[in-house]
Amino acid sequence: MITTLVPVLHQAQLNRYAVGAFNTNNLEFSQAIIEAAHEEQAPVIIQLSPKAMVYGGKALFCLTQELAANTDVPVVIHLDHGRKLSDLKLGLEWQMSSVMMDASALSFKRNVDATKEAVRLAHRHRASVEGELGTIGGQEDYVTGDDQNSYSLDQIKIFAKETRVDALALGLGTSHGLPVKNEHVDQNILKQARAAVTTPLVLHGASNIAPLVIRKAILNGITKINIDTELRQPFTGAVRHALATDHRLFDPREYLGVARAAVKERVKQKIRLFGSANKANYGYPRFR
Ligand code: G3H
Ligand code: 13P
Ligand code: ZN
Repeated sequence: MITTLVPVLHQAQLNRYAVGAFNTNNLEFSQAIIEAAHEEQAPVIIQLSPKAMVYGGKALFCLTQELAANTDVPVVIHLDHGRKLSDLKLGLEWQMSSVMMDASALSFKRNVDATKEAVRLAHRHRASVEGELGTIGGQEDYVTGDDQNSYSLDQIKIFAKETRVDALALGLGTSHGLPVKNEHVDQNILKQARAAVTTPLVLHGASNIAPLVIRKAILNGITKINIDTELRQPFTGAVRHALATDHRLFDPREYLGVARAAVKERVKQKIRLFGSANKANYGYPRFR
């Protein structure tokens, strides 16, 4: 069944676990993520970036929606890193149950204004909204190094109060994509943020971060954890291996099938690490 971030992250916060937010690019990723959630009886967030929306079109959304609507576990279908209101409008028109407004490249005031507008729009559709403060490395490299935690505790409080976002991503030292030097999770800033607001907090760029660091971040208050690269790696690795070891292969279902199984296994591992296995039965409300 399809639901929003609100009940899913509320339960996570209450019971001190985190819900995995996994990016999809195609049929096999959507199947792998939703089957893994079903087998682990876990709530799950499946997300499409604007690039995935262009790559897969509405068809990618519709097949993901079909899989989500027909599973017994709660699934949030979320827009990841929407940077323009037009991305959000399209996602909401397609009936995504949740959207992210990432206006973190703008000044604080313009970020607040853009996120407020996103919340007004999404809440009219009964969808949830994630906002972002600070910088996550990799795709947001226009701000570098020390600037990544360039927000104050006061700004976190003002942002949460003014925008009324349902989840808040913070730049905490992680990076999108393959691991980079000095990647870390600033647990001190996280603890202070947790004490300052009740808004569920989100960790982006969480692929290839050590399990102990992830567990600590959950203890310190993270309730949504974004993973993309660590699904792309086993998928591509499995395709590469299958094609390299059997030169006669020509049926895509054979090499995409093993790649899908590899993604499913990785999603299951993450669900167990995040503590969200067997948390699917809190009576979550259906989206719309
Ligand atoms: O944070 C970004 C996600 O990993 C999505 O990446 O824009 O290549 O789809 P993408
Ligand atoms: P990774 O690239 O570390 O998987 O981060 C994914 C992410 O944050 C998607 O929003
Ligand atoms: Zn991200």
